Amino acid sequence: MISQTHSCVVIATIIFFVTVGVNSISEVDKISSLPQQPKVGFQQYAGYITVDEVQKRALFYYFVEAEVEPASKPVVLWLNGGPGCSSVGAGAFVEHGPFKPTKNGLIKNDYSWNKEANMLYLESPAGVGFSYSTNESFYDSVNDYLTARDNLIFLQHWFTKFSEYKNNEFFITGESYAGHYVPQLAQLIVQTKSKFNLKGIAIGNPLLEFNTDFNSRAEYLWSHGLISDSTYDSFTKICNFSQIRRQYANGALTTVCARVNRLVSMEVSRYIDSYDVTLDVCLSTVEQQTYVLTQLQEGEKIDVCVEDETFTYLNRKEVQEALHAKLVGITTWTTCSGVLKYNMQNLEIPTINILGTLVKSGVRVLVYSGDQDSVLPLIGTRSLVNGLAKDIGLNTTESYRTWFNGRQVAGWTQVYGDMLSFATIRGASHEAPFSQPGRSLVLLKAFLEGKSLPTIL
Ligand SMILES: *[C@@H]1O[C@H](CO)[C@@H](O)[C@H](O)[C@H]1NC(C)=O
Ligand SMILES: *[C@@H]1O[C@H](CO)[C@@H](O)[C@H](O)[C@H]1NC(C)=O
Ligand SMILES: *[C@@H]1O[C@H](CO)[C@@H](O)[C@H](O)[C@H]1NC(C)=O
Repeated sequence: MISQTHSCVVIATIIFFVTVGVNSISEVDKISSLPQQPKVGFQQYAGYITVDEVQKRALFYYFVEAEVEPASKPVVLWLNGGPGCSSVGAGAFVEHGPFKPTKNGLIKNDYSWNKEANMLYLESPAGVGFSYSTNESFYDSVNDYLTARDNLIFLQHWFTKFSEYKNNEFFITGESYAGHYVPQLAQLIVQTKSKFNLKGIAIGNPLLEFNTDFNSRAEYLWSHGLISDSTYDSFTKICNFSQIRRQYANGALTTVCARVNRLVSMEVSRYIDSYDVTLDVCLSTVEQQTYVLTQLQEGEKIDVCVEDETFTYLNRKEVQEALHAKLVGITTWTTCSGVLKYNMQNLEIPTINILGTLVKSGVRVLVYSGDQDSVLPLIGTRSLVNGLAKDIGLNTTESYRTWFNGRQVAGWTQVYGDMLSFATIRGASHEAPFSQPGRSLVLLKAFLEGKSLPTIL
């Protein structure tokens, strides 16, 4: 039944190719409609790009064309971090894709990034989401190098498949551990002189330098009232967060570090989402409470349970069929991979210096921080970007100032040498576009257009 339908699509495509001669190969991946999807005027595509023919390793993508005039809009690749988490599950369905799943099907996201760009969501590396390697040994030792290499191969094939987009401006964006993926991929593109029209990269709450990033958490938790003075003191005198992370990665905490870690966990409590210290948590097992919590949100309503709803939605058989997705070697799609064993030593590879190299080769860089995140807090990120600007001799071209969405402050920003920018998003979580969709969209638009962030006028 399925294969019959499939061959019909293939035949239709061949006829289409012969008669029209454009957009040929990509037609097979066109999504007619997602289950319970509101009617929209733009096209969506999803499917696989094989990055290794011999090992049968293939990466899954979801491509959403811009709402209006896609031909003249840039292509924006989005990568979530983890390492091991899905750009389709998190980026597309929780953060800034065209739809959000609810119990009653998909609803339109009013702040979808495809208002400004053609959005390409990639599940990477193989082992994440619907992406797979038939030879499962691949999962045992994945690292930054392999991820960047496969992502580059993916792009080469993807731009061949969607050749009508190969001259459009191209941007790479992502968050969290994509603070590794994004600059490393951009650097590889520059080094290999790949023929993409790469204009810039943007990374949100990124991991850029292990010690600075993880140690800034202590000050963040303390200054936001989540830990006591004496516990904060322990971080400087007894054991700091980078030591705790490092010891975790190597197997076990020392007695002193375990004691500090326990104190922090007790004081912060289990009822706080460390990715957004002000947002309510999804108490998904207690349906009624979830409902009440959602009702109590002030201002723009944020569905704090959208991750659970995405999990349910993407695991529906008819949704997977509509997406041309398959489960290879797994029984369930998950937001973060259960099969991938990423080399955790790679967390210590600094990527901040790569941003400097990119700026020097003419690639615009935006680093932004949702300011409610305690996991990779703005404090560390801001000082890293500021330090980089000094190191590579970029003067401040816009002094630290507020930026606006409408008449409200949407965050603060500083620009260096018109090429390197830092911006906070006020009231935003680690997944900034999830909790501050409007402000995030304003930031994206300015970044893509290479313009200053809006002032009050
Ligand atoms: C499977 O992958 C591993 C590691 O990537 C490789 O060493 C091995 O030769 C592969 N096996 C086959 C049958 O190709
Ligand atoms: C964290 O602890 C290590 C080991 O004591 C030390 O080398 C490092 O400087 C500390 N970092 C900070 C930011 O305190
Ligand atoms: C940066 O500012 C310093 C001091 O004002 C000046 O000497 C230097 O030429 C500036 N550098 C650039 C690249 O504009």
